[in-house]
Amino acid sequence: MAKYERLPGGGENGRGSSSAFASLKGKWRSPSPGSDRLRFLRLSPLRLLIIIATILFGVALLAGGKYKPRVGSTYAGSMDDDDIVEPDRSDRGPQFTWQNFNRLNGYYNGVRKLIPVSEWVPENPLNETQEIAKDLFGKAKRSLINLNTPNTDPPMEPVVFSPYPDYESYEYLSQHRPVEKCYLDANDKIAAPDIYAYPGIPEGMTTNTFGSPAEIGFDTNVCFDRFGRFVPYGYGYYPVEGGLGLGNRSEKGGVDKIFDKSGKIDYRGINWGDAQKKCFEKNKLRFENSTTDDQGKAMDTPKKKVSRTAYVLRTWTGNKYDEHQIMTIRAMINELSLKSGGEYDIHFLVHVKDDSIPIWASDEVYRETLEANVPEEFWGMATLWSEKLMELYYPDPFPDNVVNMAGAPIHGVYRSAHFALQWFAQQHQEYDFFWNWEMDVRLSGHYYEFHNKISDWAREQPRKGLWERSSRFYIPEVHGAWANFTETVERESKQAGITPIWGPVEFPATDMLDSPPEVHPPRRYQDDDYEWGVGEDADLIVFDPIFDPERSNWVFRLDVTGYNLSLPVPPRRCAIITIGRLSKRLLNLMHEETWAMRHTMFPEMWPPSVALHHGLKAVYAPHPVFFDRDWPLEYADQIFNHPETDFDSVFGWGEHNFLGTSFYYNSGFSGALWRRFLGQRENNEGGMYEEGSGTGRMCLRNTLFHPIKHEHGSTD
Ligand SMILES: *[C@@H]1O[C@H](CO)[C@@H](O)[C@H](O)[C@H]1NC(C)=O
Ligand SMILES: *[C@@H]1O[C@H](CO)[C@@H](O)[C@H](O)[C@H]1NC(C)=O
Ligand SMILES: *[C@@H]1O[C@H](CO)[C@@H](O)[C@H](O)[C@H]1NC(C)=O
Ligand SMILES: *[C@@H]1O[C@H](CO)[C@@H](O)[C@H](O)[C@H]1NC(C)=O
Ligand SMILES: *[C@@H]1O[C@H](CO)[C@@H](O)[C@H](O)[C@H]1NC(C)=O
Repeated sequence: MAKYERLPGGGENGRGSSSAFASLKGKWRSPSPGSDRLRFLRLSPLRLLIIIATILFGVALLAGGKYKPRVGSTYAGSMDDDDIVEPDRSDRGPQFTWQNFNRLNGYYNGVRKLIPVSEWVPENPLNETQEIAKDLFGKAKRSLINLNTPNTDPPMEPVVFSPYPDYESYEYLSQHRPVEKCYLDANDKIAAPDIYAYPGIPEGMTTNTFGSPAEIGFDTNVCFDRFGRFVPYGYGYYPVEGGLGLGNRSEKGGVDKIFDKSGKIDYRGINWGDAQKKCFEKNKLRFENSTTDDQGKAMDTPKKKVSRTAYVLRTWTGNKYDEHQIMTIRAMINELSLKSGGEYDIHFLVHVKDDSIPIWASDEVYRETLEANVPEEFWGMATLWSEKLMELYYPDPFPDNVVNMAGAPIHGVYRSAHFALQWFAQQHQEYDFFWNWEMDVRLSGHYYEFHNKISDWAREQPRKGLWERSSRFYIPEVHGAWANFTETVERESKQAGITPIWGPVEFPATDMLDSPPEVHPPRRYQDDDYEWGVGEDADLIVFDPIFDPERSNWVFRLDVTGYNLSLPVPPRRCAIITIGRLSKRLLNLMHEETWAMRHTMFPEMWPPSVALHHGLKAVYAPHPVFFDRDWPLEYADQIFNHPETDFDSVFGWGEHNFLGTSFYYNSGFSGALWRRFLGQRENNEGGMYEEGSGTGRMCLRNTLFHPIKHEHGSTD
C-alpha cells in the first residue's frame, strides 16, 4: 500500500506483513558484486575464470578513469523507511539462506549488447553442471572484453511498439465498430504518440524466476530502454521545449533515432481530462450494443460491444507528483485510453486526508481542494473522497469484529481502502471493470500490452483448479509449461486431500447474501474437462498468489467484521498488494455485503473472500517477477509453494524471502533495479559514467515494479 496508510503505531512497511514479529524483519541489502569471490575460490574453474574476467573489467574501468570506489554496500540510506532500525549483522554473516546465493548481473547489460532473442542465453539459473552455463560463459567472456567502448550506438534500430489490434484491418472491422483516432490537444494536431522498443535483448540478460511473459502473451522479442519508453511523454528534453527536463545527464547513445521518430511533444498546456473525454465521445458507439450502422441502417451481423474499464489511481492530498510520476501517468492515459480509442478511462481517486473539509457540501471547496492537490494537467480526471464521506455512505454500526490488529477505525483507509472503490464503482456503473492502482507501482513496458494481455489470459483460464493454481507461484523452469503446472496442481491437491473450490463455498452462516445464479457449476468437478469458465471474464485479477490466511501467520488474518461470532470465522482468501482488477459484478457484491450485511474484512482479504463466497472467478496472473540472486529453483519452489509449516509461509514469517524481488510489498530490489533503469546511481553502481564506459543504458522486458519509494537518485 502507499505511504499514507501507515500502520497505527508502526512503520509503513508493516502493511500486509507479519510485522508483529519485528525481530524477524529483514531489510534488503544489495548483494555486493564481489561478495562471491571468496566462495568462488573453492568452486569450479569456470567461476574462477569469471572472477578473472570481472577483475579485468574493473581494471578497464579504472583505466577509463571513471570508476568510483565503493563506499558502502547497502541501500539503507535510500529506502525511506527510517523508522526501521536495522541491526548491524555484519559480524554474524548472512541471516537468511537466500543471502548466500550469487548475485545476478545480467540486468545491467545494456543496449550496446543487444542481440536477437533467438540467440539469448539467460544468465540464470547458473548451474555449472548444466550445458547452459558453459554457453553463457562463452558469451559472457566476449561481452566483458569489449566493454570499454564509449559513445557506441546500439547495434539495433528502435521500432514502434504497438500492442493494439490492427484497427484498420478487415478482420477487426468485420466484428467491431471503427476506432476513431485520438489526439492530445483540442485541435486534433498532436496525435497520441507511440512508444519505441529495441527488437532484441541484451546478451546475458537475467530471466524471470516467477511467471511467464510468453504464457501471458507479452511480446518477448523486444526490450524497453528509458528513452524509447518515455521520450514520447517528455523525457529527455527541457521544459523550454515542453519536456520534463529529465535524462540530459545520462548515457544516450543512439537516442537521436528515437527523437527523429518521436519528435518532442510540447506538453505545455495539455489537458489530459479533455483529451480523454473527447476520445471517448468520438468512440462512444464502440461501447454500446447496436444493431444499426452509423447511417441508421440495420446491420446483418451486429458489431461486438467493447467493454469499458476504469483505471483508478489511488492517490491522496499532499502527494508530491515529481516529473517521473508525471511521465508515468501520461503513459497510462495515452497507452490505455487515447491509443485504444477510449477503452479505458484513467481516474484519480483522491483521499482527502483532512476530515474537516466538507467536500460533499460545496462545489467551491471541492474544486479548491482538487486544484491544490492534483497537477493541473490532470484536473479533469479526479474524484475526491474522505473517510468522513465513507462514514456517511456506510454508516455505523459495524459490530462483530473478530480481531482488529491494526487498532484502527473501520472507516479508515488502512482497514477499508475498498470502501472508496466500492463507492466509486456505484457512481460509475458504466464501467465493466475497475483496476485499482497504487502510485508506487512502475512498469518498464507498455500499459495496454500489460493490462490487456493479462485480462485476455485470465478470460481463457478454466475455472477447474483455478483457486488452487492461483495459490501458487508458477516457476516455469520447475513446473514446465502451464499445462504441466495445471496438471501438477490438480494431482498434488488430490494427494493432499484438498477439496477443490467449485462454485460458491458453503460454510455455516446465518446472514449471507444469495450468490448470482450464473456462478453455480454446470457439472461436477470430476466431470469437467477444463471447460467451465473458459471465455468468462475474470472478476478478480491480482499479482500475488491468492492464499488461505488461515494457513499463514499473516497478521491481519482475523480482521473480519460482521459475521455471526458464535459460528466459525468464514473461510477467506487473501492477496498481498491491493493492485488488481475487479469486475463490476464483484464490486457490486462487495458493496451489498457491506451496506446490507455490514460485512467487511481487511483490504487485501476482502475482494478475494467475497469472490470465494460467491463463486466468482479469481485469478493470480503469473506476471514476470525477477530476483536479485540466483536462487536454486527447486529451493525457491519449496520456500514459496511448500512451506514446512504454516508459520513458515512467505506470507508470514517467511516474507523476508521477497526482499530481493522486483514485486512485493516489502521488496528492496524493485526500487534499486527501477532506478538503475532510469539511469540513476544505486549503491555506488550505475549512472551516466558507468553506463557510458560500459554497455550502455539498460533494456528490460515489460515488467511490473513495486514498491518504488523514490526516483530521485543522482545520475552521475
Ligand atoms: C545537457 O548536458 C550537456 C552535457 O552532458 C550539457 O552540455 C548541456 O548544457 C545540458 N543541457 C542543458 C539544457 O542543460
Ligand atoms: C447488449 O447485448 C447483450 C447480448 O446481446 C445483452 O446481454 C446485454 O444485456 C445488452 N446490453 C444492453 C445495455 O442492452
Ligand atoms: C508437459 O506435458 C507434456 C504433454 O502432456 C509432456 O509431453 C511433457 O513431458 C510434460 N513436461 C514436463 C516437464 O512434465
Ligand atoms: C448466530 O448463530 C447462532 C448459532 O447458530 C444462532 O443461534 C444465532 O441466532 C445467530 N445470530 C444471529 C443474529 O443470526
Ligand atoms: C544443478 O543441476 C543439477 C542437474 O540438473 C541438479 O541436480 C542440481 O540440484 C542443480 N543445482 C542447483 C544449485 O540448482
